[in-house]
Amino acid sequence: SSNIRLAVIPGDGIGTEVVAEGLKVLNAVGVKAETSEYDLGARRYHASGETLPDAVLDELRGYDAILLGAVGDPSVPPGVLERDLLLRLRFELDHYVNLRPVKLFPGVATPLGEAGPEDIDMVVVREGTEGPYAGAGGVLRRGTPHEIATQESLNTAYGVERVVRYAFEKALSRPRRKLTLVHKTNVLTYAGDLWARTVDRLSLEFPEVETDYCHVDAASMFFVTQPARFDVIVTDNLFGDILTDLGAAVAGGIGLAASGNVNPARTAPSMFEPVHGSAPDIAGQGKADPTATILSVAMLLDHLGLTEAAGRVEQAVADDLLERQTAWTPRTTREIGDDIAARVAG
Ligand code: NAD
Ligand code: IPM
Ligand code: MN
Repeated sequence: SSNIRLAVIPGDGIGTEVVAEGLKVLNAVGVKAETSEYDLGARRYHASGETLPDAVLDELRGYDAILLGAVGDPSVPPGVLERDLLLRLRFELDHYVNLRPVKLFPGVATPLGEAGPEDIDMVVVREGTEGPYAGAGGVLRRGTPHEIATQESLNTAYGVERVVRYAFEKALSRPRRKLTLVHKTNVLTYAGDLWARTVDRLSLEFPEVETDYCHVDAASMFFVTQPARFDVIVTDNLFGDILTDLGAAVAGGIGLAASGNVNPARTAPSMFEPVHGSAPDIAGQGKADPTATILSVAMLLDHLGLTEAAGRVEQAVADDLLERQTAWTPRTTREIGDDIAARVAG
C-alpha cells in the first residue's frame, strides 16, 4: 500500500542486467514503487562528456532511495566514472555509512570448507565519505623520473564519531553485541589514534557492547581462518572496500554481496548497490548473478521501513540459494531473477 519513489541508475556493464532483475523482484513483492531511470555512466559520458550533471544530482535528492547497478567501463579512463559519478553521489548525499553484510546463507559453498552460517555472520560498517577516498593529494613533476605522488587520508573527529556511533548501535541490535575496530594503528598513527580514541570514548556510552581491535592485515587473515571472531566491524573507507571483497569471497562469492550507502540522518536518499563492479569480462552475456542486487533491494526496503517486504525478498533469496546446492543447473541472469521473483510472489 505504501508508495515509494525510487531513482534507478543501472550504470555500466552487468549493472544494467542485474538492476533489471532487482526491479523484477521489487515488482513481485508488491510494493508500490514509482521508478525513474537515470542514464548515467559510460554511454552518457561518451555522448556528452557528462558524468553527473548538477541538475541531475539535485533531482536525485528528491527520491526516497536510489538503486544502482555498477559504474566503470574499459572505454573510459579509470577513475572518471568511479570518482565523478559513484563517489560524488556517496559524498554529496552524505552516505557516511557503507553497510556491507558478510553472511553465509545455508547451503552456500564457502572456500573455507568447515565454516558454516553460524561462523560467517558479520556486518562491515565501512566509512563512506572520508579516508583516502576524499581525494586529497597531488602530483609533482608528473612523467619525470622524479615524480612524487601523494594520496592523503582525511579523517575528521566528526566523520569518525558518526560512523563509529552507528556501528555501536548496530552492534547493540545484534545478539553478540561485539564491535571490532579494524585499522592499522601501528603504522597510520595519526588517523589510527583518532579512530581508536573515538571507539574507546563511545564504548563508555555502550557498556553492553564488547569492543575489540584488529589490525587490517591480521583481520584479513582472520576472515579466512577464524571468521567467527567478527560480529560488527567498523573501519576506514579503503580498508572496508578491500575487506568486503574478501568477505564476499568467503561468504559464497561476489555475486551475492549486497550493500547500502546509507545516510542515517536521512538528509538525503540512501543508495543501494551490489558490492561488485560492472564486470566487463562477462557483461552482455547473461552470466552475471543478480542475487547481490536483489539482496540490495531487500536492504533498500528495510531502510524505508518496509520490513515485511524486505524479509520476504531475503527469504526468497535464501530459498533459492538452498536449492542451488541440490538442483544445480546453471541459470542465466534473467532466469535467476525470474525464479526469485516467483518465490517472492508466492
Ligand atoms: P568487478 O566486481 O566488476 O569484477 C571482478 C570479478 O568478479 C570479475 O571476474 C567479474 O566477472 C566477477 N563478477 C562481478 N560481479 C559478478 C556477478 N554479479 N556475477 C558473477 N560474477 C561477477 O571488479 P573489477 O573487475 O575490479 O572492476 C570492473 C569495473 O567496475 C571497474 O571499472 C571498476 O572501477 C568498477 N567497479 C564499480 C563498482 C561500483 O559501481 N560500485 C564496484 C567495483 C568496481
Ligand atoms: C565499491 C567499489 C568502489 C569503491 C569504486 C568503484 C570507486 O570498489 O563500491 O566497492 O572503491 O568504493
Ligand atoms: Mn570495492
